[in-house]
Amino acid sequence: MVVNKVNGLSGELKVPGDKSISHRCIMLGSIAKGDTEVYGFLQGADCLSSISCFRKMGIAIENEGERVVIHGNGLHGLKKSDEILDVGNSGTTIRLMSGILAAQDFESKVNGDASIQKRPMGRIMVPLGMMGADIKSENDNGCAPLLIKGTKLKGIHYNSPVASAQVKSGILFAGLYADGETKVTEPYVSRNHTELMFRDFGADIVTAGKTVTVKPAEELYARRVDVPGDISSAAYFIAAGLIVENSVITIKDVGINPTRDGMIEVCKMMNADIEIKEKDNSSAEPVADIIVRTSGLKACTIGGELIPKLIDEIPIIAVMACYAEGTTIIKDAQELKVKESNRIDSIVNNLKAMGADVVATEDGMIINGNPDKNLKGAKIDSRLDHRIAMSFTIAGLTASGDTEILNSECVDISYPAFYKSLERLIKR
Ligand code: S3P
Repeated sequence: MVVNKVNGLSGELKVPGDKSISHRCIMLGSIAKGDTEVYGFLQGADCLSSISCFRKMGIAIENEGERVVIHGNGLHGLKKSDEILDVGNSGTTIRLMSGILAAQDFESKVNGDASIQKRPMGRIMVPLGMMGADIKSENDNGCAPLLIKGTKLKGIHYNSPVASAQVKSGILFAGLYADGETKVTEPYVSRNHTELMFRDFGADIVTAGKTVTVKPAEELYARRVDVPGDISSAAYFIAAGLIVENSVITIKDVGINPTRDGMIEVCKMMNADIEIKEKDNSSAEPVADIIVRTSGLKACTIGGELIPKLIDEIPIIAVMACYAEGTTIIKDAQELKVKESNRIDSIVNNLKAMGADVVATEDGMIINGNPDKNLKGAKIDSRLDHRIAMSFTIAGLTASGDTEILNSECVDISYPAFYKSLERLIKR
């Protein structure tokens, strides 16, 4: 994809359904009793990997596009798959599903693409192992392929060294099957979609500060789920509206769960013209329309408990920081190194290629912004990382010359219509 500078963006759009919630719908729907109807399901490659894995375990899932119906077989209704469970590029699928597989009365082999085979699975193998799970990394390197022999599990209290919703959720899923209560304490609160959905599906789950406690379940019950727009996908358009001159963009129906809204907080810290119009809604997952206008941004420091609330938005925040007045510091974000690519590297190298003043640090980066200096077009190595491809596409809208995004099709992981949606907003 070749991207060029534009003179403005305007209009309204809806971003696709939340990726985290869509994955959880498939998993909870599969082990609940009855039909879980999902509206606004994300038809991205990652969530389709979750569908394909649970279909292989005997779950009937109708996928009609925006509406997905999961015919759940109950807590103990999964069947052994004859084939390898292939999670593709999806860390959420492998880590959450491992918690379920650890408790089944059959053995599974789980694998994924080249990126997944490099990402750390020890973080889920260790706590599940403490619960009694039998999980082996086939190549003994703490990565996929994983061989998971289901067994009886016991409840534990796990003090997680990382604030990771994938780790927490994998343990909570296993906890549904354990013989006593399971607790997870995190250093900082991570996204809580699993907890909210467990409660909706009938599980006994309580959150107190940074600790979540789940009791073993006898049965979960199907629900209708309306998936809000993904704030991580909205983030590209929020940033675009702020940094592209002459722009006003409205993004409709975005999920603004307080464990996910770090992007909004950062925009406010950066002096952005951003309006959050909350909808009148009673759901545990609040929704809002977000309106952004071209703004003179100011630098800020991002770290600590804010990081898990915006971890996937750091690539696009880094692009914004190039146009902010002053020095933006991103710290406590070493988790970036174990995402779909090493995102400290992929952000810093690509920003440097575009002429930005940026240095990598051990746990983040330091960006000296300049509102008066446009980035310059460059060849962007997306490293097949969807968030890098989308962030640098937005950077390209403000850059002089051609910005060429290599392997831009990787946006299909979370936002297949990304380029189409963007195209419609460009002022001609
Ligand atoms: C996710 C949790 C986060 C996030 C990922 C989705 C989830 O990962 O980066 O895109 O759905 O639970 P970590 O748990 O590794 O932080």
